[in-house]
Amino acid sequence: MKTVYIGTNWKMHKTIAEGVEYCPKLNKIAKDLDERIQLFIIPPYTHLTTLRKETGERLLLGAQNMHWEDEGPYTGEISPAVLKEIGLDLVELGHSERRQYYNENDLDLNKKVHAAFRHGLLPLLCIGESMQQKELGISEESLAIQLKTCLKGVSPDQAQKLWIAYEPVWAIGAGGIEAEAEYVYKMHDSIRSVLVRLFGEAGNDIPVLYGGSVNRGNALGYLKGKNVNGLFIGRSAWDLTKFEPILNDVEDFLKNN
Ligand code: 13P
Repeated sequence: MKTVYIGTNWKMHKTIAEGVEYCPKLNKIAKDLDERIQLFIIPPYTHLTTLRKETGERLLLGAQNMHWEDEGPYTGEISPAVLKEIGLDLVELGHSERRQYYNENDLDLNKKVHAAFRHGLLPLLCIGESMQQKELGISEESLAIQLKTCLKGVSPDQAQKLWIAYEPVWAIGAGGIEAEAEYVYKMHDSIRSVLVRLFGEAGNDIPVLYGGSVNRGNALGYLKGKNVNGLFIGRSAWDLTKFEPILNDVEDFLKNN
C-alpha cells in the first residue's frame, strides 16, 4: 500500500494558544504511527509562524489560501512569497467555502496553482460539485471542468508535486450529508481518469484525498476506494480525542492491506 494522506483544515477555528497545545499532542500520536501515514494540518494564517516551530518531523504545515501575486495593492491578501518565507509545505486552494463566500473561481485558482509551483509550495487543490450539479447528473462533468481549468498549463513534472481533495459541497460542514462510499469511489475514479488524460502516467501518482463529514464511522469505508489516497477532515480532527481513534483505525487498516 502507498502513502495515505490524512490532514485537517482548521477553517476559522482554534486560537493560537489552542494550536500550540494541539501540535505537540498530535506529534506524540504521530511518532508511533506507520510511516506510510502522512499527516498535515492547515491552520489560519495568523497561527503559521508559531506553529511551524511546533510541527515536528511527521507533520506537514499548510495555509488555507493565498494570492497569486508576490506583492501589490491587494489589501488583506497574503503573498505566496511570505508563505514560503514562513517555511510552509503546502497551500490549500479552492476550498468550497472560499468559492461560495469569497467568489473564488477556477481561472483565479489556476493563477494560484502556478504561483504555488513558482514558490515551491505544494498545491492542495479542492474541487467538488454542488447538490444541484449532483441532482442534474453532471457531477463528473463539473469535476472535470474544475480540474481542467485550475490545472491549465501545469506540466506532468509539476503534477508530481500536486494533491487534489475531492470535497462534494453538499457533504461539508455541520449541515453536510455523508456521502455513500460507492459514490465517492465513482467520483475518485473519474477524477483519476481526468488526471491521467491531463498528465499521462504522472496522473496515476497524484494523491486524491476525500473530504466532507469524514468521521470514525465512515473513514475506512472511504479509504477502501482504489483511487482514494487519503482523507481531508474538518470537525472530526479538531479534537484529538476524536482524531486519534481515526488515525489508529487507519494504522490497523494499513497493517491488514
Ligand atoms: P468537515 O469534515 O467538517 O465536513 O469539513 C471538511 C472540510 O471542509 C475539509 O476541508
